[in-house]
Amino acid sequence: MPVNVPTYASLFAEHARRLSQTHLRTLIPDPARGARLRHRDGPLLLDLSRQKLDVPALDALGAQLEASGWQAARDAMFAGDAINTSEGRAVLHTALRAGGSAMPSPAPVGARRDIEATLERIAELVDAIHDGRQEALGLPGTVTDVVNIGIGGSDLGPRLAVAALAPFRTPRVRSHFLTNVDGQAAYDLIRALDPRTTLVVMVSKTFTTQETLLNGNVLRGWIGEAYGGDERAVARHFLAVSANTEVAGGWGVPLRQIFPMWDFVGGRYSLWSAVGLSLALAIGMPGFRAVLAGGARMDDHFRSAPWQENLPALLALTEIWNRDVLGYPSRAVVPYADLLADLPSYLQQLEMESLGKSVTPQGAPVGQPTVPVVWGSVGTNAQHAYFQALHQGTEVVPLDLIGIVNPAHPLHGNHDALLSNLLAQAAALALGKTTEEALAENPAGGPALAAQRTFPGDRPSSVILLDALTPESLGALIALYEHKVFLLGHLWGINAFDQWGVELGKSIARQILPALRGEASDVPPLDAATCALIDEIRQRRT
Ligand code: F6P
Repeated sequence: MPVNVPTYASLFAEHARRLSQTHLRTLIPDPARGARLRHRDGPLLLDLSRQKLDVPALDALGAQLEASGWQAARDAMFAGDAINTSEGRAVLHTALRAGGSAMPSPAPVGARRDIEATLERIAELVDAIHDGRQEALGLPGTVTDVVNIGIGGSDLGPRLAVAALAPFRTPRVRSHFLTNVDGQAAYDLIRALDPRTTLVVMVSKTFTTQETLLNGNVLRGWIGEAYGGDERAVARHFLAVSANTEVAGGWGVPLRQIFPMWDFVGGRYSLWSAVGLSLALAIGMPGFRAVLAGGARMDDHFRSAPWQENLPALLALTEIWNRDVLGYPSRAVVPYADLLADLPSYLQQLEMESLGKSVTPQGAPVGQPTVPVVWGSVGTNAQHAYFQALHQGTEVVPLDLIGIVNPAHPLHGNHDALLSNLLAQAAALALGKTTEEALAENPAGGPALAAQRTFPGDRPSSVILLDALTPESLGALIALYEHKVFLLGHLWGINAFDQWGVELGKSIARQILPALRGEASDVPPLDAATCALIDEIRQRRT
């Protein structure tokens, strides 16, 4: 929303006032609710019927979306317009999966050709490794372990998908992810692996990221020791995925082992590109293509469904309602599936790096709250940690509760308990328990105990149910959130595809490093608070 336009809080104030008088207990029985707030696309059901919305409020939000020109904005993204204006770039992650789409792709032909050619290269590599023909590609003889080195978007997508699709993994290779610059992880990993059978995938769009290069150097040194420093032998163990082919080549990855990224794909939207190489190596090419097809299916839905049935649109409108109108500052993501344990971290980057902005592309203040803090962890574990605060704390935290109908294991007793917990939490948060009910349950406890055993309820949650956790449904789930983010960027009038906010800390870290090491440097002097801590660290170092 451009500046000087009324905020969503003021636009929908009347609906919020009306709804503040009505508890979810009263709203939920309305038979019109389910039809308007519960929708399915393929393997995915989105149930918003426990959101603090009613049909008039939803219609008002939808009318605002319609008036915003969202279809034209969406079509501009799919067509490859340079909507990432601060970097003058197109945003074409949808083109990466367009091969699985039933609708014609409006993306530029050149981009689509490059994408298809890269997919073929990925397929050739994956098939060769899975069939034991890797030497033909110049790779080491036997590959038992694949280490993905990358951070942010070069880590979170493949990490999430490899874990989520564990039941689909080939036993031929084990997958590992090295991310943080904390040397403990690299140290532990190299003690556990055999350098001669390890393949390293260096994933970095820029190939300048400190963490990735440091970890890459550690693994290069470790493999080098096994070959007595023979650089050609070492290079056979490295693949790279980067938009900076020249630097990746200069770092030591042979050109034929470098897979491209493009400026038109942002890191946090890049799982569908060669950034998904570790995933393709873990689950095979048909599985990887199925992830793409799941994403493409959601693209088709996003491009064709009216807002009333459009899952990303409904999720985005719900977020506008909770964040801007009701003023809730955070949202918890709680997957009831251990296989989806990395989903909260993945969504943290997707949503907070994309939407954590407070000015428009014209440089004007947005003038209203943007992204909430996104956090969470798996249920039921979360219930035994922080759900107390979600039920009875002073902050209202909307939740996304994500469940799988059919598990990939035969322990149905456990699974039924897991799903009952998901449904119970959604119900308890919405319905609560009155003081009268608490007192009736335990009259001997008296009013003081009854007050402590009261649940205010009226706390909103969305439920997303996947028929099963498969490559297709995972692709659809990720694309659902991507498009929600796109729409929120559009509705808040911010660029969801740049991330200038991460740069300042990176450049200060570059200044601090020589000071921490006591090296002379020509960088500007550091501030007094930082200098004091550097001194402290230097003095106490053993
Ligand atoms: O620091 C943030 C960031 O730029 C993310 O946007 C990106 O996903 C990550 O760093 C990694 O960047 P690269 O792929 O260039 O190493």
